[in-house]
Order: sequence, then C-alpha cells, then structure tokens
Amino acid sequence: MLDIAPAPTARPGGIDRADYDRQCQAALVSPDAYWREQATALDWIRPFDTVKDVSFAAEDFRIRWFDGGQINVSANCLDRHLATRGDQVAIIWEGDASGEGARITYRELHDRVCRIANVLKAKGIGRGDRVTLYLPMVPDAAAAMLACTRIGAIHSIVFGGFSPEALADRIRDCGSRLVITADEGCRGGRRIPLKANVDSALERCEGVEHVLVLRRTGGDVGMTPGRDVWLDAAMADVSADCPPEPMEAEDPLFILYTSGSTGKPKGVLHTTAGYLLWVAKTFRDVFDHRDSDVFWCTADIGWVTGHSYVVYGPLANGATTVMFDGVPNYPDHGRLWETVDRLGVTILYTAPTAIRALMREGDDWVTRHSRASLRLLGSVGEPINPEAWAWYHRVVGDGRCPIVDTWWQTETGGILISPLPHATDPKPGAATKPLPGVQAQIVDSEGAVLSGAVEGNLVLTDSWPGQMRSVWGDHDRFIQTYFTTYPGKYFTGDGCRRDDDGDYWITGRVDDVINVSGHRLGTAEIESALVAHPRVAEAAVVGMPHEVKGQGIYAFVTLRVGETSTDALQNELRQWVRKQIGPVATPDALHFTPSLPKTRSGKIMRRILRKIAEGDTAAIGDTSTLADPTILDKLLGGCKN
Ligand code: WT7
Repeated sequence: MLDIAPAPTARPGGIDRADYDRQCQAALVSPDAYWREQATALDWIRPFDTVKDVSFAAEDFRIRWFDGGQINVSANCLDRHLATRGDQVAIIWEGDASGEGARITYRELHDRVCRIANVLKAKGIGRGDRVTLYLPMVPDAAAAMLACTRIGAIHSIVFGGFSPEALADRIRDCGSRLVITADEGCRGGRRIPLKANVDSALERCEGVEHVLVLRRTGGDVGMTPGRDVWLDAAMADVSADCPPEPMEAEDPLFILYTSGSTGKPKGVLHTTAGYLLWVAKTFRDVFDHRDSDVFWCTADIGWVTGHSYVVYGPLANGATTVMFDGVPNYPDHGRLWETVDRLGVTILYTAPTAIRALMREGDDWVTRHSRASLRLLGSVGEPINPEAWAWYHRVVGDGRCPIVDTWWQTETGGILISPLPHATDPKPGAATKPLPGVQAQIVDSEGAVLSGAVEGNLVLTDSWPGQMRSVWGDHDRFIQTYFTTYPGKYFTGDGCRRDDDGDYWITGRVDDVINVSGHRLGTAEIESALVAHPRVAEAAVVGMPHEVKGQGIYAFVTLRVGETSTDALQNELRQWVRKQIGPVATPDALHFTPSLPKTRSGKIMRRILRKIAEGDTAAIGDTSTLADPTILDKLLGGCKN
C-alpha cells in the first residue's frame, strides 16, 4: 500500500474542499453570476455585456463568452504587473546545456514584446493577420507570441520537430504572410536547422512575404534579401512603445494544429477573453500558485501545454515561469533534478512519458539532488500508470508533494479534470474531479447517460470559457467532429471510468488518434504519408502498448504488385514518414502483409489490427464479417520488426 498523506489545508485564497463544492454549485446554478465574478480577475478595456451565449444544438450552434467586452492579452500578461512587479523575473530561460540561461524581468519582457510588435507592424501585420512561429524554447518565442496578441495578430505555432512538409501545410492552411523562426535550435547537444527548414517549406507554399530570424546558435544560415531579416537588428530599429490593441472578447487569439481521427491536422481556434480567463484561473487554482513560486512546465510551446502553462497562464498571474530548451536526459539523467535545485523550482509539471523514461534509469539520478524546493508535482498529456505515479510521488516528491494529474486537450484550452492540491485526496492514476464549471458525463456508444460507477465515453454537456470556437477555415468540420456523435454534447474522443467515489479515470482515446509520448497523432495522417510512397499500395496504422512512450506506432503495409518486403525497404519507409511528418511520427513497428482485413463493404477492421499490435492474437474476437477469412493466417505470418 502507498502511504499518501491526505489533502493539506488550503493556503489563504486557495481552494479547499468547501470552496470546491461551493464553486461547483455556483457555476451550475447561476453560471452568469459565477463567471462574471471570475472574470474580475482580468483587466478589461471595456466591460462585457453578456456573460455566456451558448448552444451545442446543430440548428442554432454558437459558443460566445463575454460579448461586448474588450481586452488585450499582452496587457494582462505584462502591463498590469509593471507597477508592482516590474523587476520580478518573468521568465527563467534554461538552455540546452546545463547552466546556459538567462533571467528576463517583466519590464524587460514588456520592452521586447513592444519592439517585436512594432517590427510586425512595420511589416504590415495587424489585426486578424496570421503569423506562423517555428521557434526554439527561448524567451523571445514567448515575446513573439505576446507581440502578436498585442496588435491582434493570430499566432500559429508549429513545433520545431515538424518537417518542412508539415510546416508548409500549416502555413498554407492559415495563409500566413510572415514567419518567425531562428537560425537553429539545440536539443540534447544536437542542432536543428530551423531556418533551413523554413526555406525548404517556403519552396512548397506561396504567400509568405517576410521571415524574421532570431539568433540562437549563431550558426550559418542563408538569408534571402528582401524577405529575411534578423530579428535583433529589426528590434533595435523600432520604438519600445506600442499601445495594446483593444480586442473583442471573441476575436481569434491563436490557431494550433492538432491531429484528429480523419484527414489533415485541423487548426484549433481559440479566442481572446475566454481562453485567457480559463488558463489564468486554472493555473492559479490547480497549481495553487503563490508569489514566491518558481513554476516549471517542461512542455514545448509548440504544443498547447506550452501555450497555456509555460506562457499565458503563468504570465497572466504575474508568476515566474521556466522555459526549458533542452531534454530530460541531457547531459545526463539527472538534468531535471539538478535544474530544479539550481533554479529553486517549487512546482514541476511534466508528462508521464518523461517520468517513465527517468524511472527506468534508477532512483540514484534523482536522490543525489536535493529537490527540497519542490512542493507540488503535475502530470499531463496521457494517462499516468499507478507505478509511474507512485515513483513520481515517493522518489521525486519524497512523499511530501501532492500530485495533480491534469486531464485536458488542445481543444479545451486548459485543464478540465484534475485534483486540487488542498481539496482532493490523492488517487494514483485518476484525474479525479471536474473543475467547477465543467459539466462532465459518461455515455455509452448509443449516447445513453450512465450514472454511478461506470465506464464509457467522456462528453461535456455545457461550454466553459476556454473551449475552442472553431476549426480554422472549416466551421462545419468543427461541429461535425465534436458535436454530432452525441448531438448537443461535446465529445472528447476519450474513454473514461468513474469509480464509487465519483472520481474520473481517463482510459485513453476511443477514436483513431494515438498518443505517442504525449504527442497526439492521427493514424490517418501516418497512413497517407505511407501510401504517398511509390512502392506502397495500402497502409493501416494503429497504436501499440509501449513501456516508455505510452503508445507506439504500429503500421501494417501492403506493397504494390511486384515489390518485395526487405529490411532496406522497412528502413526506407520509416525514414519516409519521418521526413513527411517529423521524427515523432516514425513507426515503431512495420508489418508487411499481402492484404488488410476488411469487411465486405471494404472497411478495414482496425479492431483486429489493434489486437495483433498488442500481441493479443488469442483475443481477436469475431471475424465472421471478414470479406476474406484467410487473411488472418496471412497477417499473422507477416514479418514484423
Ligand atoms: C489527449 C489530448 C492536455 C494537453 C496535452 C495533450 C490525453 C491528456 C491526460 C491525462 C489521461 C490525458 C487524452 C486527451 N490526455 N491529459 N491527465 N490523463 N489522458 O493535448 O495533444 O490535445 O491531447 O491527451 O487522450 O484527449 P492533446
């Protein structure tokens, strides 16, 4: 048995159990009054008229929060802190090499944001224009995000690990005219050719007029005259005065591409006031933030966790946030703990895949560092198995730090289901309870609402301010994807169990999305990359259990007539996918098969493929609907690597 201390009493202003119950009740019974009160945490330029105007019904679908209000995100993250904490550190930058770093105060960050905003303006960027960011984890990346919000431009960040092809797709989809990148990135001692990748992406898509290049490594890069300029030089040439643009509450704030079960990645669109309120409140409540904290979320700003809990949530609260440009196993497996000690980190927020990878290396890497500054630990991105939870609690947290296992999605903007450190008794592996204002239900595959201790699919029956508002350029796809499976409800795509205490346990995706090391990938995306190869006829991709990554990628491939499966072709296909999408999408297993299991109507039976990928061929189940019953023998005889 684990010896886990119950919830400690709340700090003044923190949420204890009675507050939690009170807030849940208030949000349910009088949502307008509740959210009006919560919204006082932000600085408004003009007060809003209506709090909430929402319908999930197809006929009159709408999601609007705080209509009539005007607000600016950068002013909430910077200007309003200057009088009281201008000299406080806003961002601690921790580079790839340990000890390489910098500290940026709120005043310095404000200066940099205003300058970048003026550079953008000078390039003709303004309200509603899209700006693509392809950057390493450096303070100027956060400054570039905030600079966009200052002038009402919409940022679209593309993770630096994505390929030029994937970058070009995302630039094309949102029609950016300007890209901000860096000469090179640095990860685990290796260089990443960011600028060269941008150059090659821009050969594949039109419309980009300007590229701003941040100097990170000083590496040699080509600059195209008339298009490319160095950011530092441009910043020195403009004024540090840039008034924040008054934005409407529902104006777009950013686009972030994420994978779904079908087609190309979709541009998740978040809007201004609701998103900001949600990340500001969840950061404060879930992490129990106090002024003296040093908060470290290890996520990259290329993912939503980086948007919400490296940049916007912490800065909206005037916090000190760490930006880490490295990896947990470089220069050695003690990197996180050595850094925790050196920076005095009090709250650490990371992913189960990192915890599992470090757990394998042994306790000594952890215990040789003090970690005395830590007081709270967080987990995000995928289900955390109880063994990893227990190790995180016992070894990393010395048994004294509460763990918040936070469930949310790119689409939800911020955390929706999570323990609160002073209100929730710990339960290894459970995301526990919905936050106040989150109306969760578990339904069966027909949509019947299940009550009590049950397992089914997780839906949300009402809106919360941080909810995504649309898919960029395809509002119908937004409604189709999320609101038609269970009409009138938002379908999360996740399976979920609720126990006798009413606690929620997320069991993982029930659609064709896989979660590899906390990175979300659509099986359809990997399949279309594979079939784009001239020797491939057909491909089907499923998730397989993976000890460290959570899920691995298992690809079934049939070759064109006349082609033979060889080890060399296996490698070639792996490299091919890597090049098409990025290293995160490289298949872990490639299984050549003469054909795929299909129903008579030609639909691939993924259930069977999943069982094979899990190595559970005894439990394949009903195969009577297979068009070709001999396929199973052929499949099981296929070569897998
Ligand atoms: C999917 C969303 C949340 C931001 C990072 C990932 C899975 C996320 C948890 C958790 C179990 C989790 C879900 C979700 N997930 N957090 N604490 N426990 N599963 O965002 O890339 O949009 O992925 O990640 O399956 O649907 P994302």
